[in-house]
Amino acid sequence: MKENGLILGIETSCDETAAAIVERGTRTLASVVASQIATHARYGGVVPELASREHLRAIVPVVRAALEQAGVTAADLNAIAVTSGPGLAGALLVGITYAKALAFAQELPLIAVNHLEGHIHAVLLQEREDGAAADASISRVAEEPALALVVSGGHTHLYLARPANGAWRYSLVGRTVDDAAGEAYDKVAKLLGLGYPGGPWIDALARFGDPLAVPFAFAQVKTKAHLAGKTPRTKAAKTAPIAQLDPRFMFSFSGIKTAVLRYVELNRMRPEAEARATRLLTENGGREKTVRPPQMQEEALALCSQATLDLVASFQHAVVGDLMKKTFAAAEVLSAARILVTGGVAANRELRARFSAEGARRGLNVAYPALALSTDNAAMIAAAAWPRLAAGEFASDDLTADPSLALK
Ligand code: KG4
Ligand code: ZN
Repeated sequence: MKENGLILGIETSCDETAAAIVERGTRTLASVVASQIATHARYGGVVPELASREHLRAIVPVVRAALEQAGVTAADLNAIAVTSGPGLAGALLVGITYAKALAFAQELPLIAVNHLEGHIHAVLLQEREDGAAADASISRVAEEPALALVVSGGHTHLYLARPANGAWRYSLVGRTVDDAAGEAYDKVAKLLGLGYPGGPWIDALARFGDPLAVPFAFAQVKTKAHLAGKTPRTKAAKTAPIAQLDPRFMFSFSGIKTAVLRYVELNRMRPEAEARATRLLTENGGREKTVRPPQMQEEALALCSQATLDLVASFQHAVVGDLMKKTFAAAEVLSAARILVTGGVAANRELRARFSAEGARRGLNVAYPALALSTDNAAMIAAAAWPRLAAGEFASDDLTADPSLALK
């Protein structure tokens, strides 16, 4: 077997077709992401059948582009890594089938990667790329347990990640019992007539609003009530059981979405949002949701009233505050040596600023991936596969998609 440590990572779990070449889990030679945002934007969410079709179209050119960018051929690879779950079954299957065929043709080992482990490794890859691993404050805690918050469109999960002989082991500490935080961002943006996906829009607009204008509150989640014969209503419902989890570390984001809707209706803000959405639709030939979020205050005010800006700022302030409170509480209770924050919502500016400030206050290091590594990508999949390649942990021939794969 070649020993160059070159891993081709393939990621097709949701709405990005991605391929990357990463050397020894440390150096990214190429990372290509084909986004399907334009396809799903008009529906305000990911349509599974369309996602599979788009992955089928994109997979060959995306992998080819990654190899070209890296300046290598398939024959130079050491292994192929692919996301096997959690995610959309049909979407996952496109990546798995392609990865299997390529591995078979090139006689390469195939490594199955959990998407959530990939998100956690995005932070570790980032640290190695930055040379931060050599930084005394990080190398001191790198071998100790870290608390990882994976916060995206499909997940809001807290894990205790423990390094174990070069590999990592995870235990679930907390999770959402209903919507993921990113899902709440997307739904609130949709009801306000903003663009898709909602996270970057609310992130941009919140800077121009008063975060204390609307006092949204989060009550402690009652896990027992959710366990009374009911399965939690979330995309990732089966990826992690909620029994036995500490209620202090449980999240719930469906309530705040409803509270925003009620606020909009009570204050008669709905017609304004709808009028704006219609205007954007006509201005942009029906592709309103791919318009970029405003960057200047004048642009924001041309799009929204001050009341809407205050509302999104308050929504974001409350969501980030809740994520922060529970993450730091879990880190303290579990004596985590540091905090890793990753997933699409980790791209959020207010989230980064407030987590870092709180970390500094408590003397706890908080690390994030670069923005491009926060949202779905394949470099994180190739990076997560590196310890498995080193340990010879390969996928069997009957590897298939596991939409509700749990992280252990
Ligand atoms: O990790 P990701 O690309 O895909 C999933 O695995 O879900 O995350 C996508 C989610 C979307 O809900 C999107 O609205 C949210 O991440 N997101 C953000 C930001 N950028 C993306 N949320 C808040 N602020 C952002 N800047
Ligand atoms: Zn993701």
